[in-house]
Amino acid sequence: MIKHHALATAVLFAALGSSALQAAEEVNVYTYRETKLVQPIFEAFTKDTGVKVNVISASSGLEQRMKAEGANSPADVLLTVDIGRIDEAVQAGVTQPMKSEVIEKVVPAQYRDPDGHWAGISMRARVVYASKDRVKQDAITYEELADPKWKGKICIRSGQHIYNNGLFAAYVAKHGEAKAEEWLRGVKANLAQKPSGGDRETARDVAAGKCDLGIGNTYYWALMMNADPDKKPWAEATKVILPTFEGGGTHVNLSGVLLAKYAPNKANAMKLIEWLAGEHAQQVYADANYEYPVRAGITVNPTIAGYGKLNADPMPIAKIAANRKAASTLVDKVGFDN
Ligand SMILES: [Fe+2]
Repeated sequence: MIKHHALATAVLFAALGSSALQAAEEVNVYTYRETKLVQPIFEAFTKDTGVKVNVISASSGLEQRMKAEGANSPADVLLTVDIGRIDEAVQAGVTQPMKSEVIEKVVPAQYRDPDGHWAGISMRARVVYASKDRVKQDAITYEELADPKWKGKICIRSGQHIYNNGLFAAYVAKHGEAKAEEWLRGVKANLAQKPSGGDRETARDVAAGKCDLGIGNTYYWALMMNADPDKKPWAEATKVILPTFEGGGTHVNLSGVLLAKYAPNKANAMKLIEWLAGEHAQQVYADANYEYPVRAGITVNPTIAGYGKLNADPMPIAKIAANRKAASTLVDKVGFDN
């Protein structure tokens, strides 16, 4: 059935001649990012290269879909956020290693898979939204979040959410499981309420006085401040502090690209991936998403720059991926979400 379909397509293309061949210059992108966010970027790519981008956008299940489609999957590129989702795609076996001198040159090694299955194209940091009224300090470490001085003062979403899983996995990678468990118990003891909501609701709760410190991603604060008038007061009541690990830097996570295992338009897929790492795309993409460009020498959005200079922790993101399971197990063990 499938073979017959492929043959029919080939015959059709032959019948249509060169215009059909031109139309075949395309690339199929599966993404968890919102269409309105990525469409302008892809339009710029098409303008630059003549390659048409077909976008399949979904909020979940893309790896399962690619798996079910198997060798007939039209997917060329998977564009997703967070090492959790990136790692899930690799684990699902729906990707293949990419070889690209451009990516190796432009994307720092810590933001690439050593096996080549994924590369970061922008970064977000997991930071503290602190009450402007009640928090005097402008610096904090992740370790300090477990200090009893913050008892009853911290708000955070579920410890099993991928954003926290990434942060906790980084903690495990840095300090080992025993220390991470102790730390998680300390943070848990400092919570003002049961983990709930998302990062925006965390800011809301800090603004409402339920807690003094909230944990959230950098871009949510910028979105609340600049693009969501209803939530602007939540941003205005808080200040972003870029925490660091003791002796290290701020925990960052990625938005990244993966090359699909059966990419039917592999050359165009690589063209797109390399283009996304280019100066123009890096500028537009990071700015549109309020993220940090992965490429050096690109101007950071002014709101994001206003948080202060990002000193990203040097830990390879692959090492964080390797500790995701351990972090998740610890969250259950300490009853973090209970
Ligand atoms: Fe998010």
